[in-house]
Amino acid sequence: MITVRTIEELQSAKQTHSGSIGFVPTMGALHEGHLSLIRKARAENEVVIVSVFVNPTQFLEGEDLDAYPRREEADAKICELAGVDILFMPTIDQMYEPDELSIGAPAKRGYILEGAKRPGHFDGMLQIVMKLLNLTGATRAYFGKKDAQQLALIQQMVRTYFLPVEIVPCEIVRDADGLALSSRNAYLSADERSRALCLSRALKKATDAIMAGERDTRKIQEIMLDALSDADTIEYAVVVDRSFRAVEKLELGNAILLVAAWVGKPRLIDNLWI
Ligand code: PAJ
Repeated sequence: MITVRTIEELQSAKQTHSGSIGFVPTMGALHEGHLSLIRKARAENEVVIVSVFVNPTQFLEGEDLDAYPRREEADAKICELAGVDILFMPTIDQMYEPDELSIGAPAKRGYILEGAKRPGHFDGMLQIVMKLLNLTGATRAYFGKKDAQQLALIQQMVRTYFLPVEIVPCEIVRDADGLALSSRNAYLSADERSRALCLSRALKKATDAIMAGERDTRKIQEIMLDALSDADTIEYAVVVDRSFRAVEKLELGNAILLVAAWVGKPRLIDNLWI
């Protein structure tokens, strides 16, 4: 594995390889969730590129940009063991210039749920993903369903700008007790971690009700809100279709249950595709 920090180094590292490129963009503090994407990329491509970049433009004023966990050495070790060919860890000035033109998230789908709670977040996220896809020349890029709305917006960006890349959605990886893995779980104390389980429990309770025949999304939402009472602040608990439209009646095979809540320091999200 070669670790590169500049765009020039990335381009020359790429020249020593040929064949399909599998790309996994991350913000580091790598865990099994990230690793599952890297393993899939490794299995499906000749070359694997991983990026670790804590992207400042997708953090809002007052969010955890400075506190976001940074573990470059451990991340490099994990990537090496996973068979990554090129690890791209750029600095901010490699990736951005002053007064850039920017990409905006779509006016509707980009400003509901996460986009409503974190206005501007998706603009910055799309901006960096566009840059990284272009720089790496990825054949396939791997994204987790954990960030369901992010994944949908990236798929839309690829359609809108006719980007020559295949977006590969990957399943959510959880701890044995159900907690979806996240770099932000590092902020949780022991008590908060056990309370954080209410997110996956809410999804499980909703699934049980759906399996018992419940289709009324308002009732399913109530079940989720009720189960989320261990959280400090609930941000949303909703049922949408796969295009992120609100629905009154859940249709199996075309629904996503989504929850977001604060537990202690971190804001946590989870979802289930049903
Ligand atoms: P980050 O939060 O580091 O996540 C990188 C990728 O790992 C994303 O595609 C995310 O959905 C996936 N991922 C995280 N936790 C997961 C889990 N438990 N199971 C499966 N996949 C999981 O998402 C970002 O970084 C950034 O927004 C980024 C796309 C890199 C742009 O800056």
